[in-house]
Amino acid sequence: MALTPTRQRLLQLLADGEFHSGVELGEVLGTSRTAVWKALAGLDDLGLTIERVPRRGYRIPGGIDLHDAGVIRAALSASARALLDDLRVLAVVDSTNEVLKATAGLPPGRGACCLAEWQTGGRGRLGRRWISPFASNLYLSVAWDFDGGIAVLEGLSLAVGVAVRRALLRLGVAGVQLKWPNDLLRDRAKLGGILVEVTGDPEGRCRAIVGIGINVAMPAAAAAAIGQPWRDLSDLGVRRDALAAAILDQLLPLLCEFPDRGFGGYRDEWEAAHVHGGRRVVLSAGNQRVEGIARGVNERGALGLECAEGLRWFSGGEVSLREQG
Ligand code: BTN
Repeated sequence: MALTPTRQRLLQLLADGEFHSGVELGEVLGTSRTAVWKALAGLDDLGLTIERVPRRGYRIPGGIDLHDAGVIRAALSASARALLDDLRVLAVVDSTNEVLKATAGLPPGRGACCLAEWQTGGRGRLGRRWISPFASNLYLSVAWDFDGGIAVLEGLSLAVGVAVRRALLRLGVAGVQLKWPNDLLRDRAKLGGILVEVTGDPEGRCRAIVGIGINVAMPAAAAAAIGQPWRDLSDLGVRRDALAAAILDQLLPLLCEFPDRGFGGYRDEWEAAHVHGGRRVVLSAGNQRVEGIARGVNERGALGLECAEGLRWFSGGEVSLREQG
């Protein structure tokens, strides 16, 4: 469902959580009360609760935290801003990663960012869905073009985990841990995930699309569809624009430096946050199941698993990991 300009403007007006009369909304939007009423009816599709009270008007209880591209840009450090070619905030997309796949070539050394209020087809690792309710969580993707093919990108998704953890710490979110290959955990439950996709020439110029999803204020109705323990940031009152800017501040320099620095430059920090370090885990890849003790990660981002037959190394891809109860 696309958001018409009237609905978008209506949302901006109602975002403050206060009551607005039909007359007032009609005046601001330059439309009739009937047209306002129709536009409001369409907002239910976004999963929003619109409260209607006679003689007071309409409101969204608690308000909503809509993105504002200007606020995000203004919050960026000068160095990150210099590395950003384009910042787009879209209301409804299939997936922010898909939007950036379709974007034309980028200038060397600069990236493009796409944020969405709602993803109708948000994607996670291993072909899973990424639950992406309207204006609740963070759905952010950054595209960066690299020379040197996919070999240059080894360990990138793990390094991105380090960057996002740093950004969260800057905003006062302490204790975030990393689960190999690229989950972000809070209180040992999933706070966010990273999906890196690569397009272009696998041996030459290619594009990495780094998709980051962070649970900020997960609505109860959407949470019911999540098939694993999860956590959000609702107790800390983190604003989504501040989070987006903090992530871009860390992520853009990382993407710029990655061809020279590689994952090696982030490895110690990753290890320090490793939730499973020294613990007994089960690793699944297709039909294969391997049990062992999780050791560190190497310079390429592969996980060392101490199994019956000795230390074995596994790289990301279609692999999942869980702790043995
Ligand atoms: C995971 O499975 O843990 C990875 C989740 C990645 C979700 C983000 S949200 C922004 C971007 N767009 C998508 O469709 N997926 C990623």
